[in-house]
Amino acid sequence: MARNHSYSQTLLSWLICLNLSLSLSAASHGHISKGKRGSLVKGMFVFGSSVVDNGNNNYRIVRLGRANYLPYGIDFPFGPTGRFSNGKNVADVIGGLLGLPLLPAFADPRTRGRKIIHGVNFGSGGSGILDDTGSIAGGAPISMNQQIKNFEYATLPELKALLGQPKPTQVLDGYLFLTAIVNNDFGLNYFLQQSSSRPSLPVFVANLTSTYAAQLQKLYDAGARKFVLLAGYPLGCSPMTKQISNSVQCVQAANAAVQLFNDQSITMVDGLKQKLPGSEFIVVNTYKIIMDIIEDPISKGFTNATDACCELREIMRVGVSCKKGGEVCAERNKYVYFDGQHLTEAANDVIASKAFFSNSSTEVYPFNLQRLALL
Ligand SMILES: *[C@@H]1O[C@H](CO)[C@@H](O)[C@H](O)[C@H]1NC(C)=O
Ligand SMILES: *[C@@H]1O[C@H](CO)[C@@H](O)[C@H](O)[C@H]1NC(C)=O
Ligand SMILES: *[C@@H]1O[C@H](CO)[C@@H](O)[C@H](O)[C@H]1NC(C)=O
Repeated sequence: MARNHSYSQTLLSWLICLNLSLSLSAASHGHISKGKRGSLVKGMFVFGSSVVDNGNNNYRIVRLGRANYLPYGIDFPFGPTGRFSNGKNVADVIGGLLGLPLLPAFADPRTRGRKIIHGVNFGSGGSGILDDTGSIAGGAPISMNQQIKNFEYATLPELKALLGQPKPTQVLDGYLFLTAIVNNDFGLNYFLQQSSSRPSLPVFVANLTSTYAAQLQKLYDAGARKFVLLAGYPLGCSPMTKQISNSVQCVQAANAAVQLFNDQSITMVDGLKQKLPGSEFIVVNTYKIIMDIIEDPISKGFTNATDACCELREIMRVGVSCKKGGEVCAERNKYVYFDGQHLTEAANDVIASKAFFSNSSTEVYPFNLQRLALL
């Protein structure tokens, strides 16, 4: 508990400082590739945090969480786009395995008309399940609730008009719904609250889980049927969290919080499946997949599972984002972490291929994405 307390206090003062000192940078634009034939699904709608953001934060005044400068995107075909990685993020890789083109970012004004036909990405760095996540730390991410509204009130009517089908279930038939959202509810919310005044962890997690369930049901009510949920990542093992806690080992309090949520989200999806006729949910255990790499990187093809690949912009001696134009490791496919918090494309590849192909229900529950896509 003592460690936990000092972790949150240090993080909070660090974030306040970060807010005061970060400046805005010019938006850069992602590119949209042409549709491909032979995809397993019609398309995919993506909701979540920086894990999946593909440029939405470029269009917002967000002090926390933009990645539209080098070395982000150093290995991406179009350079820096706002993706928090050297190359593709996990939603891009999963989309590729499904045979989909790269999806457009919702906030990009060019995301209109036929460009939305294979889906849209609503993800926003710093956001969470709870509306105040991220904003507690002074950022202005697009919350999960707002992302869902953007889908319901902007994208869905446009898609209906494009496809010319009145029934929601018909319109969204064949589309997947991918969510990757929870980590900031801990890192940029729970652990920033005073430990004396915040709810107990089980109470907070119960609230998170029921809020998340209501959000998923909102998508279902709009016509969504096939859901892919990425579980929470091992927050305590990121270079940033370890640095804040001055720990060489993974920070157990942060990991335990995410694990509690992950365990309960299995119960949540079992319940939702019962309650919502025709729905299918799979949960990708990103926590386990990343921990398995961290515990034995060499056997998984990695050499460095502890440090960020890019030179970090350190504020109060803690680094989360890459330094603009800073140095970058040469063997990027051997590192797990690209910056203080986000994964390399190589690590995203592992998660996506486990999600798609694994037959182990401890990795993807209750069955894999390939099977979901073919249902
Ligand atoms: C979760 O907690 C917030 C206050 O922090 C409250 O407004 C909300 O109603 C709670 N939601 C659920 C589903 O318990
Ligand atoms: C990982 O990378 C960091 C920074 O590039 C380096 O200092 C550290 O020694 C590396 N660790 C291993 C096990 O290679
Ligand atoms: C999973 O099971 C299917 C069907 O039995 C099999 O074709 C496939 O090779 C298995 N995948 C892996 C990664 O073992």
